[in-house]
Amino acid sequence: MKIVLLGPPGAGKGTLAKGLKDHFNLMHISTGDMLREEMKNGTDLGKEAKKHIESGGLVPDEIVTKMVENKLSNDKNVKNGFMLDGFPRTRTQAEDLDKILKKINLPLDCVLSLEASLKIVLERLTGRRVCRACGALYHIKNMPSKKEGVCDKCGGELYQRADDNEKTIKNRMEVYTESTEPIIDYYKKQGLIKTLDANKEAEEVRDFTIKLFNG
Ligand code: AP5
Repeated sequence: MKIVLLGPPGAGKGTLAKGLKDHFNLMHISTGDMLREEMKNGTDLGKEAKKHIESGGLVPDEIVTKMVENKLSNDKNVKNGFMLDGFPRTRTQAEDLDKILKKINLPLDCVLSLEASLKIVLERLTGRRVCRACGALYHIKNMPSKKEGVCDKCGGELYQRADDNEKTIKNRMEVYTESTEPIIDYYKKQGLIKTLDANKEAEEVRDFTIKLFNG
């Protein structure tokens, strides 16, 4: 299966991808995670990305598209199926993705559009915690770790993302509405969109999606 996960910040794209990854043996390709890894390693790409991410804006198309193209063209596991999380985010990225997938002969099967209310995404983002070591996702109310600040899975330290503050979240939402939401129509025209009610509990969203794919 080759899937794109679309949805506003905090809709639960990363959470759903982690829930589907093992069930369907799919590769999870998150451009947000890839960019944060570059930032952590202090690379030139990471330094450039930091300027945009911390203000809630988008990293330039050519940088992100190149990163995704490298992954899709060079990782041999891609042919077993993948979920793109956070890419594409602009019409240009969507068109470039079509070209890349045509070149490697792996057309998309489906674009999942996660719909969630503004109230819910704000609550989710301001309460999110992430494991510094393994990337596991938590929420201080909805999905708390057993011990505060410590990852249940690996014992790593939990932290709050620098872009999960109210001012930056507001910018991210505006950027989503302006630049990303319009590509839902782009994929509707290709007959690829399936819509999910992402306001529901994480397990319910995951089980619904599994049923959707199992027919
Ligand atoms: P990115 O990391 O992709 O952030 P995002 O799209 O804003 O999405 P989030 O990761 O914030 O949310 P999510 O939908 O994955 O929710 P999650 O599952 O974590 O991008 C960050 C930045 O990088 C961008 O702003 C941009 O600058 C740059 N960037 C990335 N890709 C780019 C691109 N293609 N082009 C240009 N720039 C790019 O869940 C959130 C919280 O809610 C968690 O705490 C979780 O536990 C909880 N939760 C999730 N689902 C549920 C549920 N169903 N019920 C209850 N709680 C839930």
